[in-house]
Amino acid sequence: MMKKLIFSLWIVLLPFRLLLAGEGMWIPMLLQQLNEKEMKEMGMRISAEDIYSINNSSMKDAIVLFGRGCTGEIVSDQGLLLTNHHCGFGQIQKHSSVENDYLTNGFWAMNKSEELPNPGLTVTMLVKMEEVTNLILEGITADMPEAQRSAKIRENTKKLTDTAAKESGLDVMVRPFYHGNEYYMFYNRIFKDIRLVGAPPSNIGKFGGDTDNWMWPRHTGDFSVFRIYVDKEGKPSEYHPDNVPYKPAYHFPMSLKGVDEGDFTFVFGYPARTNQYLPSKAMHLITEVSNPERVSIRGTRLEIFKQYSNADPKVRIQYAAKDASVANAWKKMIGESKGLKRLNGIEKKNKLEEEFMQWAKIDPAFDKAYSGIIPAFNKNYEQLEKFTLASDYINECGLGIEVFAFALRFKPLFDEAGKEKPDDKKISELIEGLRKLSEDFFKDYHQPVDQDVAKALLKLYLSKQPEGFRPDFLETINAKYKGNVEAYVQMVFARSLFVSKESVNKLLNDFSPKKLRLIERDPAFMASVSMRNFFEQNIQLQMRDLTASNDSLQRLYMRGLMDMQTNKRFYPDANFTLRVTYGKVEGYAPADAVYYQHFTTLEGIMEKENPDIYDYVVEDRLKELYLNKDYGDYADKEGRIRVAFAASNHTTGGNSGSPVLNADGHMVGINFDRCWEGTMSDLMYDSAMSRNISIDVRYLLFIIDKFAGAKHLVDEMTIIR
Ligand code: ARG
Ligand code: GLU
Repeated sequence: MMKKLIFSLWIVLLPFRLLLAGEGMWIPMLLQQLNEKEMKEMGMRISAEDIYSINNSSMKDAIVLFGRGCTGEIVSDQGLLLTNHHCGFGQIQKHSSVENDYLTNGFWAMNKSEELPNPGLTVTMLVKMEEVTNLILEGITADMPEAQRSAKIRENTKKLTDTAAKESGLDVMVRPFYHGNEYYMFYNRIFKDIRLVGAPPSNIGKFGGDTDNWMWPRHTGDFSVFRIYVDKEGKPSEYHPDNVPYKPAYHFPMSLKGVDEGDFTFVFGYPARTNQYLPSKAMHLITEVSNPERVSIRGTRLEIFKQYSNADPKVRIQYAAKDASVANAWKKMIGESKGLKRLNGIEKKNKLEEEFMQWAKIDPAFDKAYSGIIPAFNKNYEQLEKFTLASDYINECGLGIEVFAFALRFKPLFDEAGKEKPDDKKISELIEGLRKLSEDFFKDYHQPVDQDVAKALLKLYLSKQPEGFRPDFLETINAKYKGNVEAYVQMVFARSLFVSKESVNKLLNDFSPKKLRLIERDPAFMASVSMRNFFEQNIQLQMRDLTASNDSLQRLYMRGLMDMQTNKRFYPDANFTLRVTYGKVEGYAPADAVYYQHFTTLEGIMEKENPDIYDYVVEDRLKELYLNKDYGDYADKEGRIRVAFAASNHTTGGNSGSPVLNADGHMVGINFDRCWEGTMSDLMYDSAMSRNISIDVRYLLFIIDKFAGAKHLVDEMTIIR
């Protein structure tokens, strides 16, 4: 009785953090139970069953995982697929050459025979999902050592998925949810003949480039168009000229009605990874220890890229993709750390942990299960700090030197050829692979850039990593070169065979075990192997143990939080499975006295136009359409072309390409980014600042129809006027 009383008192007194509108990435099969009511209150006019159903066709039949990292959606009864330009970038680039530069000029198939196959590209469609927690946790006991537990789970998973795959003929996988407290099984269909249908020129698809990346207001036409093909029976198949367009069970209608501030929207797609339930010490490690170091290392590289790119257009092209990928995470980390500081994220987590510790004390069972968690976390994360930094320095600083990273790719060949009985077939395969790698590497390699990067990064490495955390080669710089990084770098670039295409070709063309000495004594190879060994011997094992321990603590902590906050609706962290997130179209106030409205227009593109700055060049044809106000059906009520809009849907990486849907389930946008001030939403969502950024479908249709003259694609879609 007493216990019960105290318990209910706690429930009344605890300042539960209410879930904020917009927060959460929800499991489609649980929408009806957990979210439908709220979604309807926010304005939704369709039902949860319309979104996800296993008995009838539903919207989930039009959503795919595009490749391995993005989302795509089907928008016609002939398998037409939309995703982001940055998601299709690799394919567009592969089809591009100097004569047919689709990256620069765009590409539009004017009929199906012109659509371009992309071997290796797949899209994955969810057929159904099931909860399988009990089956996966069969035979697991609470006091099982972590390794034994994992082994048992692996065994149960394999048994279950093997049977399910055999019975269904589908691709089956199981994923943990709520940090291993629940498990779900997914039945997928994988399509393998995916053809490129269209892409706008880069100065539309990437307009604003890295300057505008992660930022609102935004004017990027970040979309590309593909089509799914299947065999004559309608089954997924590898590319074949006789394959036919896929007839989907559902495709999204496109709405020309647009969005207004306050409108309900939802996003349906594949968010990759979030960490909403980390303890304060983990958040500290990420945002105050690791992010700042990685930001400074990447910032150093980007500065050097910029100097050379500004001076030489050839270098700018060579380093464009590298620059984009280094800059993307760099900018994200800056935003994340800043955002959490502003939110007092660590303080909030600390408070929650104090509450948790006090709450656990009210019940002996809770006390036993939960009281040790936070102190154990604190100890682990404290120890993890130096290893995390050591590994950051290897990956970002040491292997940020291109020639070091390149040389390391020769390690498998070196190991195989050094064996007592080398496998000749394997060796020729490795050589073949390295030939291709080397072709790609040298196409985009400018040695002076790398040499300057090496000087700058090695100085950082030496000054920032303490003794005991420096791989051998750094100690060599100290001992043999008296700490003179310049002299060491000079020597590496003068002597390494990995800086020259000719010497690498020579090595690969008449490779024999005699060449092993050449590789072994190569200074770039030596440096990268020294980092690899250092990692394997001094970092990896310690990190693995600490991480395994944190994983099991995190599982308990998650369960504990759910036991404590019994009236809170919990959503599982993103794990690259299909989710629904919903919010409202809304602007935000990024700083004192400033308010950003929720949409941008073609006028804004013209304001940003600058023929001298690569990111802001505007196509003549687009200008012409703008000057003539030749907007077809795609303008808003005021006669403007809207380009992008902001909304409070909780999204992350992997949601790129996801459809943004209105209250009727009609498509109004394609998600492609988040605003900088809100990027901490992977760790802590903030309804005041966290905004996803989407291209307005009317801009996309305008570009396809009016700009590219590919109206046949618009005609294929279902348009809601
Ligand atoms: N920030 C977006 C994302 O995380 C877009 C990245 C691609 N664009 C770029 N300018 N690098 O994927
Ligand atoms: N651009 C990201 C992606 O490729 C989406 C932006 C985000 O992280 O929210 O998935």
